Amino acid sequence: MPSLNDIRTTFLDYFKRNDHRVVDSSPLVPRNDPTLMFVNSGMVQFKNCFTGVEQRDYVRATTAQKCVRAGGKHNDLDNVGYTARHHTFFEMLGNFSFGDYFKSDAIPFAWELLTRDFDIPKDKLLVTVYESDDEAAALWKKVAGLSDDRIIRIATDDNFWRMGPTGPCGPCTEIFFDHGDKIWGGPPGSADQDGDRFIEIWNLVFMQNEQHADGSLTPLPKQSIDTGMGLERIGALLQGKHDNYDTDLMRSLIEASAHATSSDPDGPGKTHHRVIADHLRSTSFLIADGVLPSNEGRGYVLRRIMRRAMRHAHQLGAQDPVMHRLVPALVRQMGAAYPELSCAQAMIEETLRLEETRFRQTLDRGLKLLDDEVARIPEGAELPGAAAFKLYDTYGFPLDLTQDALREQGRAVDTAGFEAAMAEQKAKARASWAGSGETADATIWFDLAEAHGATEFLGYDTEAAEGQILALVATGGEIAKATKGQEVQIILNQTPFYAESGGQVGDAGVLTTASGKARITDTKKGQGLFIHLAEVLEGEIGTGQGAALTVDHGRRAAIRANHSATHLLHEALRRALGDHVAQRGSLNAPDRLRFDFSHGQAVSQAELAQVEAEVNAYIRQNSAVDTRIMTPDDARGLGAQALFGEKYGDEVRVVSMGLLDGSGKGADGRTYSLELCGGTHVGRLGEIGLFVLLGDSASSAGIRRIEALTGEGALAYLKQQLGLLSDVATLMKATPADLPVRVKALQEDRRKLENELAQLRRELAMGGNAAGPEAREIGGIKLIAQVLTGVSGKDLPGLIDEMKARIGSGAVLLIADTGGKPAVAAGVTADLTDKVSAVDLAKAAAAALGGKGGGGRPDMAQAGGMDIGGAATAIAAVEAILRGE
Ligand code: ALA
Repeated sequence: MPSLNDIRTTFLDYFKRNDHRVVDSSPLVPRNDPTLMFVNSGMVQFKNCFTGVEQRDYVRATTAQKCVRAGGKHNDLDNVGYTARHHTFFEMLGNFSFGDYFKSDAIPFAWELLTRDFDIPKDKLLVTVYESDDEAAALWKKVAGLSDDRIIRIATDDNFWRMGPTGPCGPCTEIFFDHGDKIWGGPPGSADQDGDRFIEIWNLVFMQNEQHADGSLTPLPKQSIDTGMGLERIGALLQGKHDNYDTDLMRSLIEASAHATSSDPDGPGKTHHRVIADHLRSTSFLIADGVLPSNEGRGYVLRRIMRRAMRHAHQLGAQDPVMHRLVPALVRQMGAAYPELSCAQAMIEETLRLEETRFRQTLDRGLKLLDDEVARIPEGAELPGAAAFKLYDTYGFPLDLTQDALREQGRAVDTAGFEAAMAEQKAKARASWAGSGETADATIWFDLAEAHGATEFLGYDTEAAEGQILALVATGGEIAKATKGQEVQIILNQTPFYAESGGQVGDAGVLTTASGKARITDTKKGQGLFIHLAEVLEGEIGTGQGAALTVDHGRRAAIRANHSATHLLHEALRRALGDHVAQRGSLNAPDRLRFDFSHGQAVSQAELAQVEAEVNAYIRQNSAVDTRIMTPDDARGLGAQALFGEKYGDEVRVVSMGLLDGSGKGADGRTYSLELCGGTHVGRLGEIGLFVLLGDSASSAGIRRIEALTGEGALAYLKQQLGLLSDVATLMKATPADLPVRVKALQEDRRKLENELAQLRRELAMGGNAAGPEAREIGGIKLIAQVLTGVSGKDLPGLIDEMKARIGSGAVLLIADTGGKPAVAAGVTADLTDKVSAVDLAKAAAAALGGKGGGGRPDMAQAGGMDIGGAATAIAAVEAILRGE
């Protein structure tokens, strides 16, 4: 009996032999479809190949595609566990032709694979075709020899496949397996078609049209093929089972669940095991593809599935978290076909364990409340919406979990009442927000957030994705479209653009729609919305359009490197300076990083050098950067660095970097840096490249600021510094290594020359006469009064001292004729200062020179003048003072 793994391989090998490229499954979060929550069929990753927008280097492909139908349009969640063929996660096998072959090859391929490689008896098979598709009907007759009654024409949309309201589409033919008349049910198109006798196993879509938003259909550039066969269904058939959950793969998961809960896989808990097995697959694959539990969007769908499974585990009597213990069984089954599952195993286990540990804290009390509420209402009555809302709001019970729990008792929930309670809570939140005094123009963001919900951020995993334009805002109001040259703020349902927060600047890049193109210059956050600041470059863009979003890769890569380096810097500072070092602010821009932290004194050169070397050592270690999601308390329990005074939500991302060498000093004994952070980071530390500290300065009291560069920026900076060094060496005609000695010698020479020059100047000022100007006696006091040229104001005090020494006792007045404003200095020898003050002499002289003021001591004072023309008057004024006039 072939295993599901064998069947997958047989399928892919068959098409590989027929010149198809075996393409990996795309991640579950669609990158190229703005409207789809999760990938739900094989063709999603090829959507643009069908429409001709994208060309690849192959025209035939085959895949085993991971699909999730648990949210959005295709939602099978409610039926899982209770039916034979519903799954939240399944694998779709498919073959695709992009304008290469069409019906006349697709039908023979399918027939040959089913009847020859899979060895299904021909007489068990029948097909449907679209009513008007004579060509397909004729092909089936010719290729398979099917009689007319086994080629059923269907007029409805059942045989015209569309991926959604827009996108490639076309008529299809479906292949059915007849389980025989022991099972109730009629052929497709009959009144009893919903019975279990005739099971659809394969859908071949003849892609030939594109459906547009306005309802019109246009032909595709080339006719193409898209097929889909559920692996679980074909597996059940080939293993002789009627129930997908009885296939080898699903059975092994059910048995793992039974083992972990010490219960009978086929006993009264059978449904619980089926739900657990299914949900284990969807949750594990979603986590492996980067979805993490949250209260919004995809993360909330994941949380709903997780919690639903956890309640079923609880029903089986499990006392401790169960789900994470089943992951090894899943990896054993599917890890070879989907290596991403093995890679993410530790992360999946931890995410499941934390969620289950946390949910268990309220699960018991919630279930008790549910019992109490149910006891109060009549048998079969709906649970009041208010009770369901309380379970949601206080106990973390997603609505569908409550519905699922009540289903076992044949009860439903008053969903309208639930919605009303939810709306009331939102209205209250709004009222309290409006009262908090935020600016009026933020109202628009609140309204938009209420109308559309928070923007989903895809940028942790991708830098390019499609989003749907939900609103355009210009000058404070909504507009329907924006045209070339216009500045506009754009809200999308999802985006790879990071919005400025946590010190990391917003992303920039390009947005393209069918009718226009805009440059995104920055991205900000408001009320959970990502606000893209844009300028329309070409054509026009409009609300409702799908948009291709591309983040400026180089810029983002540089920001990422700076942000990751900031974490390393933070930790290195803590280790070098002490545990008091705490982040007080940061900036992670493309061209630099800045980090403010608490520390009372300047960081020494030696400390800076140590920090820089340590950061670079971890960059060279090149270990992978790991991100996990957990509660703030759990994160702090692990020793993660949180921002002081920051308000964190229910979940936080914890980013770990660097592996310790077993010294055991890391927060968790293994990890160098562990920080709560919502930013984007490098995949491996080596991507930072290089880290260069620019220096440390004071930011404010008790806060230091370090600026640094990484990667290309750091390299460019070092190159520039080396360039300067080499320029200087050339000027000095020396090697860079000789420069310190040479510069020192130069400084010495200069000092010597300056001394000599000062001496010469003085001599020159004295008229070349070493004895200097003659002293005269005025009022019994010796006076030297002289106008000097070629000296500056600052030379005067030295000259005054010299002349005072020369006359022994007396007064000196020197006026420097500088060519501009004259300077004055006066001196009086110590024996005369009680008779006459140098300050009075300087002031009098300055006044005569048109200046004001003057200051100093009784033995030496200085002042400035305006006009050298008053020099003679100044000398006369001083003489007058000495004469006592
Ligand atoms: N895309 C087709 C389907 O999902 C094959 O059924």
